[in-house]
Amino acid sequence: MTTPGVKWIPLDEATLDPNPFVQFERWWEEAVKVVREPETICVATADKSGQPRARMVLLRGRDERGFCFFTNYESAKGHDLEENPKASLLWYVEPLGRQVRIEGAVEKVSPEESDIYFDSRPRGHQIGAHASHQSQVIASRVELQDAVQESERRFEGGEVPRPPHWGGYRVIPHFFEFWQHREDRLHDRVFYTPDASGGWNRQRHQP
Ligand SMILES: Cc1cc2nc3c(=O)[nH]c(=O)nc-3n(C[C@H](O)[C@H](O)[C@H](O)COP(=O)(O)O)c2cc1C
Repeated sequence: MTTPGVKWIPLDEATLDPNPFVQFERWWEEAVKVVREPETICVATADKSGQPRARMVLLRGRDERGFCFFTNYESAKGHDLEENPKASLLWYVEPLGRQVRIEGAVEKVSPEESDIYFDSRPRGHQIGAHASHQSQVIASRVELQDAVQESERRFEGGEVPRPPHWGGYRVIPHFFEFWQHREDRLHDRVFYTPDASGGWNRQRHQP
């Protein structure tokens, strides 16, 4: 990594917050100053055969309940999560030489939460959610454009409701890794795992 002018900030167990959610927020606040789209995050799922499958999504919710993204429940990731409701998230902040790995169980967010987010989206995105059968084969771009026009006609003059096959997932973490780039590949890695009293253990791991 060669981002000019950046000094890596060492990870020090003594100054890391005991709560990984709080620590994530600290890194988030620093990332938003240097990254154009910090919401971009990789989510990896696996079907019941164990085949992993990764793709980027946008992180749309973060709080002590977990980390949320929105998608089509009938997509490939939706099918994976139906069979195996677990995921790993990977967030990379190149200018700061940082990555965060999160692993956890996955649940659908409430329909009300999905409605609130869906209603906040631009109309074109809402129409797209109706028109696109995400992850399914389509014969041509023209077929997709026809489906978009059909949805536009259907909702002309009115609001676009959230389709039932579209909504949010929440990853409920049981593991975090905070990774900081250091010179000579001697990176800092600190893992958080739950302790017996409802808090979190912190352990340094080798790079
Ligand atoms: C930067 C970026 C952000 C994306 N955000 C989302 C998202 O929030 N939700 C989503 O369903 N797909 C998003 N996508 C598309 C997914 O990567 C993926 O192509 C799509 O969800 C279908 O994945 P699947 O077939 O594995 O289910 C995004 C892609 C990129 C490159």
